[in-house]
Amino acid sequence: MEAACLAPAPHHSRPWRFVVVDTDDAKGALAQGMGVRWRRDLLTDGVAAERVDELVDASYQKLVRAPAFVVGCLTWNGLDRYPDERRQRAEWGMALLSLGAAVENLMLTATDRGLASCWVAAPIFCPEEARDALSLPVEWLPHALVLVGLPDPAYVGRTRPPVPLDEIRRFAG
Ligand SMILES: Cc1cc2nc3c(=O)[nH]c(=O)nc-3n(C[C@H](O)[C@H](O)[C@H](O)COP(=O)(O)O)c2cc1C
Repeated sequence: MEAACLAPAPHHSRPWRFVVVDTDDAKGALAQGMGVRWRRDLLTDGVAAERVDELVDASYQKLVRAPAFVVGCLTWNGLDRYPDERRQRAEWGMALLSLGAAVENLMLTATDRGLASCWVAAPIFCPEEARDALSLPVEWLPHALVLVGLPDPAYVGRTRPPVPLDEIRRFAG
């Protein structure tokens, strides 16, 4: 977390909060709380009930099997407030970018200490449900979930495709 807090942030703020979730009860509560919301979203999308059960159960199992979670949250603490929606959204976007940098620092440091980690998306789709499942303060809004454990020696990392520089890079002017 100290490495995470070396990340750049707007206005030299530190709008990040981190929650370590390493008990079966808390892991289950978070996975279950987010699952309730995902289930509702999938049913609203028109996904068949049996398929929804499969998806939500598989996600629950994947999450709770991890030895620990680190949940990266955002707060408005230290951020600017604007009277208009456009700038409010941009301010929150800056905070989110900085949380991404903080989480990357955390994962790199975990790797350096011999741990394995995997970033999963779930809480960004349901920050309030994730917050309430963990009984966090009302202003702590979970946005990043990092699963942490010991590396599986049998795991073979994904080979990343070559970077198509001509497609993704342009020189302006
Ligand atoms: C913001 C974010 C959300 C992600 N969400 C998921 C997810 O929900 N489920 C998943 O399997 N991988 C997710 N990933 C991808 C994994 O973190 C990871 O990159 C992927 O499993 C490939 O592993 P590798 O990076 O070790 O090759 C997400 C990555 C990011 C940055």
